[in-house]
This record gives sequence, structure tokens and C-alpha cells, in this order.
Amino acid sequence: MCGIIARISKDLSPIKTLKGLKFLEYRGYDSYGVLLHKLGSDEVVSKNISELSEFELDRLSKFESNVEIGHTRWATHGGVTKENAHPHWSCDKKFYVVMNGIIENYLDIKSDLKNCGVEFNSETDTEVLPHLFSKYFKDTGNVENDLLLTSKRVFEDLKGEFSFVVKYENCILAYKNINPIAIGVCDDELFLCSDSGLVQNNSDKFYVLNDGEVLVSSISENNISSHFYCDFKEFSPEFKESVKSECDDENSFPTYMEKEIYDQKNLRSIITSENLSSIKYLKNALRNGRKLVLTAAGTSYHAAYVMHYELLKHGIMSSIILASELQNYTKVISDSIIVVLSQSGETADLIYPLRELRDSNEIFTITNTANSTLARFANRIILLNCGREVSVASTKAFSAQVFVSHLLNYELCGKEINDDLTFYENEFDRFIGNCLNILDDVCEKFYSAPDCFFIGRNEFHPFALEGSLKLKEVSYIHAEGFAGGELKHGTLALITDGVPVVVLGNCDEIVSNAIEIKTRGGVLIGVSSVENEVYDYFVKVPEVFEDIFGTIVLQLLALKMAERLGLNPDKPRNLAKSVTVK
Ligand code: M6R
Repeated sequence: MCGIIARISKDLSPIKTLKGLKFLEYRGYDSYGVLLHKLGSDEVVSKNISELSEFELDRLSKFESNVEIGHTRWATHGGVTKENAHPHWSCDKKFYVVMNGIIENYLDIKSDLKNCGVEFNSETDTEVLPHLFSKYFKDTGNVENDLLLTSKRVFEDLKGEFSFVVKYENCILAYKNINPIAIGVCDDELFLCSDSGLVQNNSDKFYVLNDGEVLVSSISENNISSHFYCDFKEFSPEFKESVKSECDDENSFPTYMEKEIYDQKNLRSIITSENLSSIKYLKNALRNGRKLVLTAAGTSYHAAYVMHYELLKHGIMSSIILASELQNYTKVISDSIIVVLSQSGETADLIYPLRELRDSNEIFTITNTANSTLARFANRIILLNCGREVSVASTKAFSAQVFVSHLLNYELCGKEINDDLTFYENEFDRFIGNCLNILDDVCEKFYSAPDCFFIGRNEFHPFALEGSLKLKEVSYIHAEGFAGGELKHGTLALITDGVPVVVLGNCDEIVSNAIEIKTRGGVLIGVSSVENEVYDYFVKVPEVFEDIFGTIVLQLLALKMAERLGLNPDKPRNLAKSVTVK
């Protein structure tokens, strides 16, 4: 995972880089590191475990700087220590590197370098990079060219997939391989990072590097020069106008998770003419018998499952494949529409197999992130338009993805969605108010429970999966979600006195499953449009958009449980928002 950032500028304030680094924490927040360099002065490096504190941000913002590189880390190779935080540097402290990705053969390289007397400070794979640059660098006085030629030699030694920025004196070299790097320019400044939205907000024009491309940029008293290379041949990139996105970092709620749950009132912004035309296209393709594969990870996978069930109602079969298992299917999927659901558009488990699959299939990406890697892979795209999702626990992106399934369903039925949507909007605030009281009681009763189960049948099955993921992710309570019919095949053995079970939907079979649980001592929390006396706690949800209203209950349950346990739901331990490693 990890985020990388760099800036070269005549403007001496490093604040854009520091704020950008804070923004990139969604890509990892185990540790941070940043280097500031004013021409003619020594470098200032700050790195530490945990995220960049407001105090340190404030302290660093008082320095002057023309060249900056920064990194926010999600640990893969080497534990969460200050030594393992980026940037890493060469023994002579001339080459500094921040990297996102994995160098697979780093142990061999490290051992060769050690045999030549190089001393390592960290356990990371990244640290081989500054030492390799130092080893191969030949100073001919033309810094940009010398750095470029060195990189060519360094690449020959490396295996793996990684993007990085190396800084040497007044110059940076950026290399992109799989993990994204976007580059923005405006007067007297070059700004680059892993997030193209952030780049656009900080530039007039932007360009997203393709795999294998290299940027070399340097600053002097009078000038900033930048050159782009593909296969080491210079080219002129096609810059696009930057589109500034609304900065919705303003948050009057105690947590982003809470804010984003409330943001779900707005589903209407998904209804754009571009999205509707993509949905019509998908409907026609399915009506014409095109093969359909659905793939996604985590919460987005649950949304894919919702689509799978919606389509079953129309007699349309889809194959649904977990992103992390998709690589097993690359040889057997062809001539299909592959619907890819991803909030971030950067999930590595999807990107790797889709690089192969996109040659022989049509890619249809449903994402919240325009210009993301998966958006750029797509033949067709649906943008969720739900605003930036900051909390690691995905909430509003899930509802938006489910709403896309509803749009497809209404389209397949030839029905209008507007009245139902208006009902949803009108009901939203009152509904949340009503269910909060019940959920407070549920949390008080179960906050110390070791386990919690979620069951649903048919179209409610994916929501049981999502409810359990949300709860374990933010409260650390062990939770499992499954199809109600599976209980008797094993899990019923875990139901004893007082075990909480959340029951979704109201078909006869799920009520029977609920009764089986109750008989064995389980405590039932019903979430449904139809009340039943078997439930110990009950949250009534409207029939219209029952699944989205039900989702909100599950999200609020997880949020309230985290609050009751004194946990920060926005940044659960060990997780990151965007999962950019396989
Ligand atoms: O950005 P994506 O939708 O591709 O992310 C997929 C999962 O990593 C993500 O949904 C994850 O499971 C969330 N933390 C769940 O809340």
C-alpha cells in the first residue's frame, strides 16, 4: 500500500507536500517520512512511526524548501519502526528514496551490497534502491542525464512491481510500475503523488504515468526542467486540464465513518446521463446474452454479490469472483463483460489479473475514483459520485454500489426509480433517529461479546456478509456472516446462551433459522420490514430500499460498538483504505 509524494517548486513553502502527505494516509498510516531541501542548504528529514502529527506538520511547515519527497507507510517488509519508515538513503546521504510496491529479489541484492561493504539501516526492500543508485551513479556533471542512465542500470537488477521517487541534489526521478503516480504542473512547480485527485487539486494540468515511464525533473535558481521517458526514449506527455474536486474534508461529525453514513442520504448524484447510458448499455448486453463476470474485494465484493442476486431475479447468471482469486481464472475468461467494483479503483488484487484479462474481455468499472487505474482500464465506467470516502470502513461507497444494482434492476424492469428515491430521501433522517435508540441498547448489552453472527437468505445474504465485515473491522469483535441455510451445516454448534445473532430479511426460511437460534439460547436482533415476536431486539426498516436502509442499521451498529469500546473507527489497526499490495 503506501503513498508517495514529491514536489519541486520555486515556492519555498512545503505546506502542500505536508498536507498532501496527511491526505495520503488513507494508503497507510503505520509511519510517515518526509524530506525537505532548500537549494544551497542541507536536507531536513522527519520520519516516525504513527501518522504525521499536527504538531510536526506545523513545525515542518516553517522550513523553506524547493525539493520535497514524502511517504506514508503500510508495513510489508520490516516491522513498524522509525528505521523502516521512508525515505531511505545511501551511505553518503546523497540518494533518498520513497517507494510504493515490492522488490521481490531484494534479499539477493542486499546480500551482494553487504558483501561490498554497504551498511543497511532498515529491514525494508526499499533500502536497496538508494544503495544501488549510489553504486551505479557516474557523475558527468549533467545531473538529469546521469540520474536517468543510472536508473537504467538499476532497473536491470530489480524484480517486482514498484513505483518510486529518488532524489539526488536538486533533481528527482520518478518511475512508475503498477502503483500509480500522477504528475501535475503549474507555474514554477511540479507536484506528483500516488493520488491523481490530489495532484489535480494542486495543479493546472496533469498527466498519469504509464507503466515503465520515467520522469526526471530538476530545479535551478532560474528554471524547473522536466523530461519524460518511455523505454528511455524521451516523449512529450499529453497533459490534461486538472479538474478540481470539492474538498469534502470538512467534517462536523466526531468521525468520518459517522459523516459518511449520513452522506448516504444522497444517492441521487449517481444519476448522471453518462452513468445512465452505461447502465442501458449493460442491460442491452445482458439481454443479448453476453457472459458476465463480477469481481471485487471486501465490501465492494459484497456489493458485487448484491448485483449477482439482482440479476438472478431477471434470469441472468453471472460468475462472481473474489478479486484475490481472480488470477486463477485468467485463462478461462474471455469474450465476457467483466464488471469490476472498486471504491478506490486501485485495489492490487484486481489490477494484476485485469492487466491480462482486458485484452480479451470488456471491462466495466464501477468506481468512486475517476482517473484511478481501474477507471483507466475500463471500456465503460460508472462513477459513484459519492464524494471522497475517508474512513477505512467503506460505507457510502457500498450503498452507492448497491444503488447502481437497483438502477440496473429498474432498467431491466422498465420501471422509474424517482418516487422510491424521493421516499428514501424523505425518510432518511427520521429512520436514523429511530434506530439509534435501539442500537444503543444492543451495544450496551453486547459490547463485551466475543462473537457476533449475521444471517440473511437470498438477496439479504450479501448484507449479512457486509454487516459482519463492518463490525469486525471497526470493533474487533469476531463476527461471521453467512446464508441462513448454512447454520445447520456447522455454525449452529457455536450458538449458546447469549450469543448475539443479527437476522436480515423476513422470508419464512430466515424466520425458521431465527427460531432455531433462539431455541439454542442465541439472542436475536432482527432488521427487517416485517416484525416478528421471535426477535429480542428489532429495527424496522421501510420496504422501499429495504436493503439500503438495512445496511445503514448494520453500519451504525458497527460504529456505535466501536464508540462504546473507545476505538477510532476511521483508522482500524493493521488496515489501510486503499489496498495496493497483492
Ligand atoms: O477500493 P475497493 O473498493 O477496491 O476496496 C476493497 C476493499 O479493500 C474494501 O472494501 C475493504 O474491505 C474495506 N475496508 C471494507 O470496509
